[in-house]
Amino acid sequence: MKAAARIAILALALSPLVSHAAETKVTFTEAEIKQILSHGPWPLAPTLDATNRVSGNREAIELGSRLFFDERLSGKGQLACASCHVPERNWTDNLRRGVGSTEVERNTPTLMNLRAQRWFGWDGGADSLWSQSLRPILDSRELAATPKHVAQLIRKDEQLSCRYTKAFGAPPSPTDDEVVFVGVGKVLASFEETLTSGRTPFDRFRDALARGEPQSNWHFSEPALRGLKLFVGKGACTTCHSGANFTGGEFFNTGLSKFAPQGKPDPGRPEGLRQVSESRFNLMSPHNDDRTGASADRTRKATMEKALPGEFKVPTLRNLLLTAPYGRDGRAETLAEVLKHYATLDTASLRAKDGKPAKPLNLTKEEQNDLVVFLETLSTFSNPWRPEDANDRCY
Ligand code: HEC
Ligand code: HEC
Repeated sequence: MKAAARIAILALALSPLVSHAAETKVTFTEAEIKQILSHGPWPLAPTLDATNRVSGNREAIELGSRLFFDERLSGKGQLACASCHVPERNWTDNLRRGVGSTEVERNTPTLMNLRAQRWFGWDGGADSLWSQSLRPILDSRELAATPKHVAQLIRKDEQLSCRYTKAFGAPPSPTDDEVVFVGVGKVLASFEETLTSGRTPFDRFRDALARGEPQSNWHFSEPALRGLKLFVGKGACTTCHSGANFTGGEFFNTGLSKFAPQGKPDPGRPEGLRQVSESRFNLMSPHNDDRTGASADRTRKATMEKALPGEFKVPTLRNLLLTAPYGRDGRAETLAEVLKHYATLDTASLRAKDGKPAKPLNLTKEEQNDLVVFLETLSTFSNPWRPEDANDRCY
């Protein structure tokens, strides 16, 4: 009798909670649902990079994955790509700025989900994943090596040379350092292309919505639903952080990072475009394997476009729980700090660039919290990746 009464009281106490979760007060319009569905499905279908002839090649991926962790690639033999892009840290370092032989001026971005992107680096200073992968090898604060150093390493190490031969179908050129060096960029890129983050609570919710499931099957909390509504609505976040990877890959000035983080201006996109057009490894160079000319044309056109100082690439919002601190200068330590910055911005006018007077979003404290809760649903700790077997030999 006593026990039964207790259960009844418990049921009474729980019932408001239960019905609350099952019938949320948050509803979406047709237009909002369309926006939400545009952030999926996940993962993206695998695609190949036409500018890289070993894209998707199993042997190239394996060699790239080994070189990514190989400190011999660096001039002094002390630094690898993985020193800053640490697998356990979602391929970043959780530092404010990357640290090689000295600190570099920007935050280390994740290498997850780069496959579908078009520009690389915060300023888009490289127009292909393989040419971006060559930049840190040459940078004196990063791997500080030369094409000659890299080419010699590949030629002289029996295992690396064997794997290179398998990947490209011919041994490394004995005389042309640059071709071997670019080959290394291409195998690194084919490895990086395989890094895809796992499915998140948002992806499961999004697919339930796509299937037309009732709200009771959404499994998405009330604050997350409110945050999502702000994300696609009032916050206009979705206009820049668009698509399944939550970035349209374009360049904008949000003021999140300081223009001159360490007293030295970081102009961003205009400088990135200059670097692309001056690079010997850009898509207009003979190293581009795309013989149609389409990718070279795209770069040629882009380098003639105007960009404004202070514009930086829109980052992905996936797995942010694993990649603090945030922003190009890494000054924001938490997502709450990022949202505090956006609270007083006019995000719609940032995108329109039409010089209309700005109307700040005026996000309340609660709205900022809801957006943070929503952003948290874009992360997962399940991002499977397995290193190559160190004992596996190439013959
Ligand atoms: C000293 C730390 C450090 C090392 C070592 C390093 N990186 Fe990076 N990586 C960075 C930073 C910082 C950026 C941002 C660069 C920029 O915006 O100019 C970056 C950017 C990138 C990007 C572009 C990502 C994007 O979202 O556009 C790729 C790809 C990349 N690195 C690959 C590599 C590879 C491959 C290596 C090894 C050859 C390497 N990195 C070594 C710190 C490092
Ligand atoms: C006009 C385009 C634009 C809009 C609109 C926009 N963002 Fe951003 N977002 C960016 C850019 C560009 C950066 C990188 C800024 C920097 O550090 O220089 C960024 C950075 C971020 C970061 C840091 C990510 C990281 O890895 O460092 C978060 C989180 C974020 N935005 C969330 C939002 C939210 C939430 C909204 C809506 C309230 C929003 N953004 C609206 C362009 C935009």
